[in-house]
Amino acid sequence: MSRKQLGILISGRGSNMEALLKAAQDTGCPYEPVLVMSNKPDAGGLDRARGFGVAAKAIDHRTFGKDREAFERAVDAELKLAGVELVALAGFMRVLTPWFVNEWAGRLVNIHPSLLPKYPGVDTHKRCLEAGDVAHGCTVHQVTAGVDEGPAIGQAEIDVRPGDTEETLAARLLKAEHLLYPRCLAAVARGDGVRVSDEVVVDGDTIRIFAPR
Ligand code: GRF
Repeated sequence: MSRKQLGILISGRGSNMEALLKAAQDTGCPYEPVLVMSNKPDAGGLDRARGFGVAAKAIDHRTFGKDREAFERAVDAELKLAGVELVALAGFMRVLTPWFVNEWAGRLVNIHPSLLPKYPGVDTHKRCLEAGDVAHGCTVHQVTAGVDEGPAIGQAEIDVRPGDTEETLAARLLKAEHLLYPRCLAAVARGDGVRVSDEVVVDGDTIRIFAPR
């Protein structure tokens, strides 16, 4: 089996990146991480990636001033040099220009901490709590020019618990993210959708995984 060569873009701690790298240690995994890149040189995820034996590079977006596309062209060149075929955004905190999105159209995915189309953008846990929602979740989706707007590939949902704070909800949802992202990415690498729904209990939380509604 030829494994799809994967590039991962991060900006921070990289726990979702780590979930992708762990899943790829299974020889049956249809993707192979070959390069992790960060726009922040001090991103903790860079060393975590190296610990997995994966090449990790930073390109500081600040050195390009306001020229977002110039930054992206530098990232794009590194991805192509590494033979990357599929790009996963994992806590990458830069909005991408239409140029980059178009260059990687259909081969660019993101994980967002809400049940899209609910709560695109920031502060998703806060907004979920303020709305009094009984459930919260995360979405893996194709990246298109509109922020958090691309077609969903898979979603995972957990219950909001009485007394949940932004922090407790975020921490519990992160476990669902770590479960969902490798599954969805594997589906994309194989060229199919997430067709099987599943329920997994992690640390007392039932995580419900399903294809987009
Ligand atoms: C995650 O909550 C992800 O959904 C969002 O940014 C956060 C990144 O966390 N896009 P990590 O760097 O993967 O730990």
